[in-house]
Amino acid sequence: MSATSTPKDAQATGHRVDSQPRHDAQLGQGFPLSESTQDNHWLEQKVGELVAEDFRRAHVFSQFGIDFCCGGGKPLSIACERAEIDPAKVVAALNAVTLTGSKEDELNQLPLDQLIEYIESTHHQYVREKAPLLVEYSEKMVRAHGEHYAEIVPFAGWVRALVEDLMPHLMKEEKILFPAIRGLSQAEHIETCFGHIGNPINAMQHEHEEVGLILQKLHELTNDFTPPEHACTTWRVCYATLAEFEADLHQHIHLENNILFPKALGLAQ
Ligand SMILES: [Fe+2]
Ligand SMILES: [Fe+2]
Repeated sequence: MSATSTPKDAQATGHRVDSQPRHDAQLGQGFPLSESTQDNHWLEQKVGELVAEDFRRAHVFSQFGIDFCCGGGKPLSIACERAEIDPAKVVAALNAVTLTGSKEDELNQLPLDQLIEYIESTHHQYVREKAPLLVEYSEKMVRAHGEHYAEIVPFAGWVRALVEDLMPHLMKEEKILFPAIRGLSQAEHIETCFGHIGNPINAMQHEHEEVGLILQKLHELTNDFTPPEHACTTWRVCYATLAEFEADLHQHIHLENNILFPKALGLAQ
């Protein structure tokens, strides 16, 4: 099975990538859990909403392996249960985060056309710069070590699948969905080919989930982007770049799924 066909074949046949919790970080230990009304409120709130209120909570969820972008629609209590994490530890870590002004607050206050501008100029630009590098590094790994280490060829295949999914996704947002949201935010009536704005939003959210599944597969193949002791420099740089790429993608998808899209749907009502 070739490197490029493996991931796509898996998707085409409907094979779901196993979704395992990545790790249970130690963050939050040592903070006593108070059974306050606030703590209970957090457990009932959706993960994406908690991050929308304060961006630094994203770092807490990342360290516990809780998905706050594609899986941000679940209440925190359910997200902890699915990830097999003690909710008391997560709440304690959230308590430790200072709740004063943040970048997230700023972004949450922006008019939608400015938020779109930020997403395009920051996150879409980042994907376009780094995605070719990831492909280049992973292909170099295949040429140098693919024969000797079984994980490298499928790894390169999943990296290519990630990039091949993302590039048209960015284009669809920039050419179809974002112009429609800009029109809504400026109270302009724009004729569209897709009917209600909820239709392209659903499609983009589905594509975000697909990207999440590919990242999960990459985590499994790379021991959470941990290079083995014998890894060469390219191998190490590739995993480090991928870890950074994933962090940016989490923030990117979070802004779309949990802030931009709900606000656009609100305007369309
Ligand atoms: Fe995007
Ligand atoms: Fe997107």
